[in-house]
Amino acid sequence: MASRKSHRAPNAAAAPTPARAAVVASDVHRELLPDQSAALLQELHLLTRTGDLNADTRRKLKQINHLANLLRPGIDDAFARQPEPVLVDAGAGNAYLGFVLYELFFGPRGRGQLWSVEVRPDLVARGKERAHRLGYDRMLFAERTVADWAAEVQDGATRIDAVVALHACDTATDDALALGIRAQAPLIAVVPCCQAEVARLLGGGTGVRAGLGPLWRHPWHRREFGAHLTNVVRALLLEAHGYQVTVTELAGWEHSLKNELILARKVQRSNGLAIRQLQALLADLPRLDMQLLRVVGLPGTSGPEAPPDLAGPDVG
Ligand SMILES: C[S@@+](CC[C@H](N)C(=O)[O-])C[C@H]1O[C@@H](n2cnc3c(N)ncnc32)[C@H](O)[C@@H]1O
Repeated sequence: MASRKSHRAPNAAAAPTPARAAVVASDVHRELLPDQSAALLQELHLLTRTGDLNADTRRKLKQINHLANLLRPGIDDAFARQPEPVLVDAGAGNAYLGFVLYELFFGPRGRGQLWSVEVRPDLVARGKERAHRLGYDRMLFAERTVADWAAEVQDGATRIDAVVALHACDTATDDALALGIRAQAPLIAVVPCCQAEVARLLGGGTGVRAGLGPLWRHPWHRREFGAHLTNVVRALLLEAHGYQVTVTELAGWEHSLKNELILARKVQRSNGLAIRQLQALLADLPRLDMQLLRVVGLPGTSGPEAPPDLAGPDVG
């Protein structure tokens, strides 16, 4: 006898909206996080004037909401430890992520600061105006490169509890990592964007055994392998500085091709095994002269360390 199941149309009860499709206003609530308002998303133009979610902005919202969820434990922890936790969104663009994080975590608690650091004046002006209109008065904007802003605040010994960078272009991701590592921020999360620096270095030769050359002989492979190698070095450097690192996909590939999340929690002062692994990797790639490694360096080596007067987290 055929089972009842065999007579049922597949997924007939709750057919999910296909990943690349738009969502009509009446169904948008399914895409929202608890405590997330459609009104803010409309203000950000992630929803249309009629409240629909089009396919492109749906992809963006998926990434932002998934990242917000993954950041939640670290941000809750920052609020538990600090009266005024400071989160930095590096290469913030339109600051969609920042506005969402503020609505979910900073607004309801009535404390803490969220900095959006962005080099483009038009985006900063728009973000400022929007934050003012929404009454997000602890959402602050710096029209600077991440590196310039880092130099300013680290001279001033600002405590930083979390650094996030969502698709910050090329080495702006590294500037965000440098900022977080040098400030000993307890939480660092980056979703790297395009990465050209290492592909360029590979193109110039790396001094490695000739047999490995075919790994990046073709420009396409050089770009892919360069991006992979960059993220490997980023993760190892974080580990070397005492971070517990998770590397994972942010949202399904159908939502974004730039999809690798490096999520790091500071758990100890440094990690000898990771230091040795990174040293061994660099010994095999002697010309991998990444700016990040020059700016941050390994713990206990000649690279610059976090300024001693920075108030670091209570770890290690
Ligand atoms: C691809 S957009 C991503 C924006 C935003 N994080 C998001 O996910 O929607 C990258 C942003 O980083 C900014 N940017 C690039 N290099 C930067 C740097 N060195 N310092 C600060 N912002 C930078 C660009 O102006 C751009 O707005």
